Amino acid sequence: MKLAPLLSAAAALALSLPFLLLLCLSLAPAADAHNITRILAKHPEFSTFNHYLTATHLATEINRRLTITVLAVDNAAMNAILDKHLSIGTLKNVLSLHVLVDYFGTKKLHQISNGTTLTSTMFQATGAAAGTSGYINITDLKGGKVGFGAEDNGGGLNAVFVKSVDEIPYNISVLQISQVMTSPEAEAPTPSPTDLNITAILSKQGCKSFADLISASGALKTFDDNLEGGLTVFCATDAALSAFMPKYKNLTAAQKVSLLLYHGVPVYQPLQMLKSNNGVMNTLATDGASKYDFTVQNDGEDVKLETKVVTATITGTVIDQDPLIVYKIDKVLQPRELFKAAAAADAPAPAPKGSKKKKESPSAADEPAADSPEGDSADQTADNSNGVGGGPLSGVRMVVGAVLSLCLSVVFL
Ligand SMILES: *[C@@H]1O[C@H](CO)[C@@H](O)[C@H](O)[C@H]1NC(C)=O
Ligand SMILES: *[C@@H]1O[C@H](CO)[C@@H](O)[C@H](O)[C@H]1NC(C)=O
Ligand SMILES: *[C@@H]1O[C@H](CO)[C@@H](O)[C@H](O)[C@H]1NC(C)=O
Ligand SMILES: *[C@@H]1O[C@H](CO)[C@@H](O)[C@H](O)[C@H]1NC(C)=O
Ligand SMILES: *[C@@H]1O[C@H](CO)[C@@H](O)[C@H](O)[C@H]1NC(C)=O
Ligand SMILES: *[C@@H]1O[C@H](CO)[C@@H](O)[C@H](O)[C@H]1NC(C)=O
Repeated sequence: MKLAPLLSAAAALALSLPFLLLLCLSLAPAADAHNITRILAKHPEFSTFNHYLTATHLATEINRRLTITVLAVDNAAMNAILDKHLSIGTLKNVLSLHVLVDYFGTKKLHQISNGTTLTSTMFQATGAAAGTSGYINITDLKGGKVGFGAEDNGGGLNAVFVKSVDEIPYNISVLQISQVMTSPEAEAPTPSPTDLNITAILSKQGCKSFADLISASGALKTFDDNLEGGLTVFCATDAALSAFMPKYKNLTAAQKVSLLLYHGVPVYQPLQMLKSNNGVMNTLATDGASKYDFTVQNDGEDVKLETKVVTATITGTVIDQDPLIVYKIDKVLQPRELFKAAAAADAPAPAPKGSKKKKESPSAADEPAADSPEGDSADQTADNSNGVGGGPLSGVRMVVGAVLSLCLSVVFL
C-alpha cells in the first residue's frame, strides 16, 4: 500500500509548486526595484522636487518600500515652499508628508469608498510626527476633481490632483498635485539635538522595552552624550527583547551596560550611508581595537548586522532626524565578548568526537521570529518550504530544490 504516501507527496507537490512560483515572484523584484530618482529624472518639471528627495535621503526610503505613492509637485510649487526658508530637517518632514505608504493609482483615487479617506504618510511612519498627525485626507470633489490636504490643516484641502506621472501597478505610483500640502505640524521647526529625548523617541513603535533597559541600566547618559555629534541606535524590538530577557538577566550590571551600548554607533548613519559603508562598525561599547564591533552587510535590499554570534536585520526606521537615527532590528545584537559564537556555519565538517565545543543551537533557533511590521514575509515563506521534509516526500524536496535553483537563476539574470 504505497499509494497513500504517494498521493500525499503528489498533493504536497501540487500545493508547493504554485507556492514556490509565488516565492520566485516575490524574490524577483529585488533585482529591479523602482528608483524614484530615475523616474522623476524623465520629467524636468519635477527637478527641484527630485533634488530635495535626494538631499533629504527620502529617495532611499521610497526605493526601499514596495507599495508607495509619491505626490510630486512641479518646480513652481517647490519654489513657493522654498521661499519659506525651512531648514533641511523641516523640509524633509514636509516632503515626507507627500509620500503615502499605500498605493494610489489614478483609478483608485477616483474610486475612494464614500468619497473620502485618511491615509498615512512617511511623515507619520518615521516617527517625526506627534500623535496621529501625519495623515493625509484625500477627498473626491465635485466635477471629478480630487483634493488633498494634511489632516492637521483644519480640513483645508489645499492641493488637487493634476495628473499621473508614472504608475507601476501596486508598487509605486507617482502623481502630480498642484501645491505642497500645508501642514503646521510638518512645517514646525525641528527640535535642536539637545531637545531630543532619546527614551521618549525609543518608546514609540515597539521599542519601549529597549528604552526602559537603557534608562534602568544607566547606559542612557552615554547615548545622550553622543547625540549632538551624531548617533545611530539599533533598537531590538519588544518581541526580540522579551525572548532575550533570560540571557540579559544573567549579565552583570557592567555587562548589561556594554550590551546596550553595543546597540549605539557614535555617527549619524542614514540607510544610504549604511548601505554604501559596509564593513566593520565601532559602537559606543568599543574601547579598543576590534572590541565590541560588528559588521554591516547588504543582503539584497536588506541591511544585516553581523556579530560573531547573531545576524540581525534592519526592519524599519523609528526616527530619522539628523543627528539622530534609530532603526528597528529583529534580534538583540550579542557581542562575542559576552556570548559564545554560534557553531560556525561555514565549517561544514561534523564536530569530531570528544570535541570541547558544546553543542549549540544555531543562533536563529533561540531567537524570536522577526516581528516584521512591514509585511516582509520572504523569510517566513522560505522557512515554510522546509516543512516539506519527511520520508515519502524526498522526491518533492528534489523538485523544490530544482524550482528554487530555477528561481535563483531567474533572479540573477
Ligand atoms: C537611482 O537612479 C539614479 C539616477 O539614475 C542613480 O544615480 C542612483 O544610483 C540610482 N539608485 C539606485 C539605488 O539604484
Ligand atoms: C461609508 O459610510 C458608511 C455610512 O456612513 C459607513 O457605515 C461605512 O463604514 C463607510 N465605509 C468606509 C469604507 O469608510
Ligand atoms: C476630509 O476633509 C473633508 C473636507 O474638510 C471632510 O469633509 C472629510 O470628512 C474629511 N475626511 C476624513 C476621512 O476625515
Ligand atoms: C511589483 O512588485 C511585485 C512584488 O514585489 C513584483 O512581483 C512585480 O514584478 C512588480 N511590478 C513591476 C511592474 O515591477
Ligand atoms: C524623556 O522622556 C521620558 C518619558 O519617556 C521622561 O520620563 C523623561 O523625564 C524625559 N527626559 C527629559 C530630560 O525630559
Ligand atoms: C545563566 O547562567 C547560568 C550560569 O552560568 C547558566 O547555567 C544558564 O544557562 C544561563 N542562562 C541563560 C538563559 O543564559
